[in-house]
Amino acid sequence: MEAFTEATRMLNKNERLQTALILLAVLVVSSKQLSLNISSQNRSFKAYANSTWIVETLLKNYDKRIRPGVKGSPSEVRVDMYVANIWAMEEVKMDFTIDIYLRQYWRDERLAFAHLTSDPVLTLSSNINKQIWIPSTYFLKTKIAYFHDVTTENYLLQIQPNGSIFYSIRLTITTSCTLDLRRFPHDTQMCTLALESYGYQTTDVWYAWNPRDDNTSAIYVNKDVELPQFELASVEKTSVINKYNIGNHSSLVAVFKMKRRIGYFLIDTYVPSTIIVIISWISFWINPDTAPARVALGITTVLTMTTLISSARASLPKVSYVKAIDWYLLLCLIFVFGSILEYTFIAFMINVRNKNNRKVLAENGWNGSSKKQEDKRELLSVLDPKCSPRRGSALKRVFSQTETDSLGADTKTFPEKTESDKWYLISNPLNIDKCSRIGFPLTFFAFNCIYWLVHTKIELRGRKITTTNVQS
Ligand SMILES: *[C@@H]1O[C@H](CO)[C@@H](O)[C@H](O)[C@H]1NC(C)=O
Ligand SMILES: *[C@@H]1O[C@H](CO)[C@@H](O)[C@H](O)[C@H]1NC(C)=O
Ligand SMILES: *[C@@H]1O[C@H](CO)[C@@H](O)[C@H](O)[C@H]1NC(C)=O
Ligand SMILES: *[C@@H]1O[C@H](CO)[C@@H](O)[C@H](O)[C@H]1NC(C)=O
Repeated sequence: MEAFTEATRMLNKNERLQTALILLAVLVVSSKQLSLNISSQNRSFKAYANSTWIVETLLKNYDKRIRPGVKGSPSEVRVDMYVANIWAMEEVKMDFTIDIYLRQYWRDERLAFAHLTSDPVLTLSSNINKQIWIPSTYFLKTKIAYFHDVTTENYLLQIQPNGSIFYSIRLTITTSCTLDLRRFPHDTQMCTLALESYGYQTTDVWYAWNPRDDNTSAIYVNKDVELPQFELASVEKTSVINKYNIGNHSSLVAVFKMKRRIGYFLIDTYVPSTIIVIISWISFWINPDTAPARVALGITTVLTMTTLISSARASLPKVSYVKAIDWYLLLCLIFVFGSILEYTFIAFMINVRNKNNRKVLAENGWNGSSKKQEDKRELLSVLDPKCSPRRGSALKRVFSQTETDSLGADTKTFPEKTESDKWYLISNPLNIDKCSRIGFPLTFFAFNCIYWLVHTKIELRGRKITTTNVQS
């Protein structure tokens, strides 16, 4: 029993020694780690301190109220932009919305830090723009413009060792765009985005488009930009000097040329109005005696045309001039109205003929032969010599022969080629219908040809202009 306890004590002693050794090892390792941690922390603290020191040194005697290179030559601000999106253009409001990344480059010797550190670039957080001089750029003719501040203000400010500054901001701008809708919807619109210095005249600040090293345009448009009604034909850029009473201001202008896509208007207006005109021609194939059918068709088509016209004009500003689409709709309305007029004329002719017939009846008395004659005349009118000349004239000859036989002296009023006979053939309702069946479609087709030729020609000429890109 005693021996056993002795053994355990020995073991415990051994164990204790072991534990102590382990503890010692752990202590040594952790202390090493601690010293390592402290040294790395020290270094990063030093780095922070050094960067802070650089920024503070730069801003120590910096006065942000004074432009760089004051009293010297004007500071040059170079600008380029990335167009992220162009939103729908609104005809009624005459404006368009554009989402851009505006990048401005200028030089401020006061911020050159090459003598302080060998860092290639100094990127600072957004609120630095409140501590250094920033060009007072603003956009002309804007209705609404705002910075984006989710999740933080969308700024980027970088300083090169030689003091060159790169400043990028993300903006959404709704700017007015005066539209010339004379050729609508075959038009090409030019919308401008112009920026200018608000606070400095040309003697102080000068704007120029930034020439990139890789020859890309100073205005780079996102390839995914897709406007529902327009295609972006070209982007031109110019620089101008705006002369005001108070002085001259340097300004940069970007011109977005947008060509309207006709597809929507084809489906929405051109095809329906053409179909309505064609429907109005059905009337020429309906018997002139069925007045309700023809009048109803005529009035329905006219009313549909009027509805179409008003719906086509609803989404457009109330301009005082006539647009191309108005000309086309007017043409359609005139044709639809023409088919009603044609029927009115026919109805009038039927009335006149009925009166004449009654007169003839009264002159001849109510005998059989006269009735027979009238039937023949009706038949004569049906067989129209104009539209099928040979058969018509042959039959007419036959009938005039029989008429001469049966009526004697009375036939003198209907000889073969007198004025009244001609008038009778022209004023025959069925003849009018037959001529309208060919005449109306032909004239409509001719007018359509003229309309589309004129407008596609203008479009082609317009496209030729848009391909020339003005470089400044
Ligand atoms: C900061 O680092 C630069 C070298 O990168 C050194 O010349 C300068 O003395 C440092 N400044 C401070 C305050 O440590
Ligand atoms: C300043 O340095 C950058 C590169 O770091 C260079 O692109 C730029 O041309 C320089 N500007 C001037 C005025 O020397
Ligand atoms: C950029 O344009 C210049 C002349 O306009 C030309 O000489 C040069 O080769 C072009 N560079 C590239 C990368 O296309
Ligand atoms: C503006 O520019 C014109 C020449 O383009 C010059 O005659 C005029 O004096 C300038 N005005 C000011 C205020 O500098």
